[in-house]
Amino acid sequence: MAIEHDVKDIGLAEGGRYRINWAEHEMSVLRAIRERFEKEKPLKGVRVSACLHVTTETANLMKTLQAGGADIVLVASNPLSTQDDVAASLVAHDEIPVYAIKGEDKKTYFDHLKAALDHRPQITMDDGCDLVSELHKNRRELLDGVVAGTEETTTGVIRLRAMAKDGALKFPVLAVNDSNTKHLFDNRYGTGQSTIDGIVRATNILLAGRTVVVAGYGWCSRGIASRAHGMGANVIVTEIDPLRALEAVMDGFRVMPMTEAAAVGDIFVTATGDINVIDSHHFERMKHGAIVANSGHFNVEINLEGLRGMSAGEPRLVRPFVEEYIVGGKAVYVLGEGRLINLAAAEGHPASVMDMSFANQALAAEYMLQHAGDLAPDVYTIPQEVDQEIARLKLESMGVRIDTLTPQQQAYLNQWEEGT
Ligand code: ADE
Repeated sequence: MAIEHDVKDIGLAEGGRYRINWAEHEMSVLRAIRERFEKEKPLKGVRVSACLHVTTETANLMKTLQAGGADIVLVASNPLSTQDDVAASLVAHDEIPVYAIKGEDKKTYFDHLKAALDHRPQITMDDGCDLVSELHKNRRELLDGVVAGTEETTTGVIRLRAMAKDGALKFPVLAVNDSNTKHLFDNRYGTGQSTIDGIVRATNILLAGRTVVVAGYGWCSRGIASRAHGMGANVIVTEIDPLRALEAVMDGFRVMPMTEAAAVGDIFVTATGDINVIDSHHFERMKHGAIVANSGHFNVEINLEGLRGMSAGEPRLVRPFVEEYIVGGKAVYVLGEGRLINLAAAEGHPASVMDMSFANQALAAEYMLQHAGDLAPDVYTIPQEVDQEIARLKLESMGVRIDTLTPQQQAYLNQWEEGT
């Protein structure tokens, strides 16, 4: 039977398979879960609709869910993040229906979400909450059939919490992002490295000696700041939260408002999750040749409409993923149309860190199937023991051993009488 799909070119499948296997070498925790899933089939016959970045790492997650018996449809969670060879390989070699094309327009993006919903999911697996939002807004007849959901990213979790607060959320969702083995590693080291990778692949600029302005100091932005610093850049952080700003100061970074940073930065990177973080009045102050990129989930952090309105003529594509706008006679370069640069111009986070994120996803799907019946519609976190076990398995795969508490130490921690 031909598998329904919408991918760029099924002829790319063979190349995709090589790259998926390459990523698998780095995903030992997920591989262990896949081996167990193959035997136990905890997701047998369960319809899963996944809306994720279609990458080599995601392909390995899909193969794990499939090994567990799930009946999957995969669609893109961003119009610019799909790896077309991976999409083709999942269809051709794994018989997984995939609807994802790099560069797809907004209509196609929503047509693909529709295909995911037409699958009548029992489990939703989201990255950014577009699938769950669409389900609650336009496909309410499907709500009764949904057992639970999982959510990958900070932005998605923020949206879900807003839904829960409004009483709008109709099924329980597990916030994978809230696991320590997710945000402390994927957000920090994954985003840190892959964002620099995206900027460098798009521009081939030297970071050493340049002033890099990082908007935000959450887990993603602190990863970006740390990696930019490591490459020799002078890093400025902008924040709205006093505590985070203070951390940035004590981590050794200059902190100032964006209006001031706008005039001194060479490269700007946003990762705040909020809208118009770089706005028209910031563009006005920028130096000639300033480079602006976003690493947050949605393309709202850079006010491109404002930039378009104030620039002379249409933007010019000067390299792949690099558009030149002319503002008051000065050039401003926007990377990847303001979409997440690490997936638009590079390959997203490396497999080794996605290993833990997607181990969380696979175990979250299993956990929610077992427990959703007891959970009210709300946002939940994976149990701490599961989080710890993922960390343990990751260390084991890296050949790192750690100490264990002696009985005496254990007892000491459980008492309160003994002090100085
Ligand atoms: N998000 C960031 N990097 C990713 C990757 N490599 N695969 C899937 N989702 C991602």
